[in-house]
Amino acid sequence: MDTHPAQSPSPIALCRLDALVEGAAVALDAVAQAGGEPLDLILLRHAGEVRAFRNVCPHAGRRLDYAPGKFLLQRGQLICAVHGATFDAADGRCVAGPCRGEHLQAVAVRVEDGLIQLAPNQHPAAISGTSD
Ligand code: FES
Repeated sequence: MDTHPAQSPSPIALCRLDALVEGAAVALDAVAQAGGEPLDLILLRHAGEVRAFRNVCPHAGRRLDYAPGKFLLQRGQLICAVHGATFDAADGRCVAGPCRGEHLQAVAVRVEDGLIQLAPNQHPAAISGTSD
């Protein structure tokens, strides 16, 4: 019988909150733990809120950036560089394009002590990133 309380994993910082300016997006490539899936993220700030989504377009499964870490983000809409699907930055819903009505997969993040962190239930082993 295990007498030690379960320890929650340490939070993983993705980037500083003040480095993510309103209306900008960054790409972060998380290397998953052995046996896990890679976690390619889009981190953006919209209406003061931080949002994170998997960098996988629901249309054809491609990354949304037109170059590593470079996104088309205009007036609260994130546009996939491959075929132009347009997503609401607030909730990841496709509002125009070939996958209208589908959603980007949201990833839970939190802000603590000025750092954007991956929520404890989504824990990769390492993070690397490129920014816009
Ligand atoms: S892969 Fe994004 S619109 Fe086709």
